[in-house]
Amino acid sequence: MPTFIVILGPPGVGKGTQAEILSKRTGLAHISSGDLFRENLKNQTELGKLAQIFMSKGELVPDDVTIGMIRERLSRPDCSVGALLDGFPRTPIQAQALESMLAEFNGSVDAVPVIIVDEDILVQRLSNRWTCRANGHIFNEKTNPPKETGKCDFDGSELYQRDDDRPETVKHRIQVYLDQTAQLISYYRDKGKLVEIDGMQSIEQVTHALESALKK
Ligand code: AP5
Ligand code: MG
Repeated sequence: MPTFIVILGPPGVGKGTQAEILSKRTGLAHISSGDLFRENLKNQTELGKLAQIFMSKGELVPDDVTIGMIRERLSRPDCSVGALLDGFPRTPIQAQALESMLAEFNGSVDAVPVIIVDEDILVQRLSNRWTCRANGHIFNEKTNPPKETGKCDFDGSELYQRDDDRPETVKHRIQVYLDQTAQLISYYRDKGKLVEIDGMQSIEQVTHALESALKK
């Protein structure tokens, strides 16, 4: 049976960082809805152009568009063992759609770690984040710097700052998270799937906490 893990938490909490590490260690596919939208934008697809209208304002892309994109991603062969979902679902409608999609693959949501960090730290982390142009590898000027300024350690590509990481947009993204996504915490708690993870520790310590929680 495939394993599906949903990583929940506000913008900047470390979902992408942890999913990247855990994907390498477990062999589960890493599905980041934000990365998929950014890849579409880079390739100037219709989906990418539509998503950009919402992303630039820090709003959620409409559910039907997002669900369609994830459905296609889940059907690719690397998901046959399961996946770490980073940034999806973000609304109750998306959470229900995920359940029916996974049922088609004989799977279900196995665990939902929610990473918890103080709000002022989120803004700080995002204003110091640098992302790799080629593959979305994540760095931080203060807490996780690349070996060479402006260059990705893994593929040598250029590092850039996401335009939705400006403090005003970040504050709005956090509000959107509180209004539309945070309710998924109780949704998954009621299903007995939720595990709380302290995100105020180093990247390695958070990985360790996630691994211990997921073993159970
Ligand atoms: P998305 O790309 O998913 O952004 P997000 O959820 O806002 O989260 P981030 O990627 O900003 O943060 P993260 O938690 O991944 O943190 P990271 O690991 O990078 O979505 C972007 C947009 O796309 C949305 O606003 C929306 O418009 C749209 N979208 C996406 N999914 C959607 C959906 N399902 N429905 C509708 N619309 C959707 O870490 C942040 C920084 O902190 C890095 O610099 C990192 O190095 C550093 N860091 C990480 N962990 C630590 C640590 N423990 N200690 C110190 N520093 C750390
Ligand atoms: Mg991310």
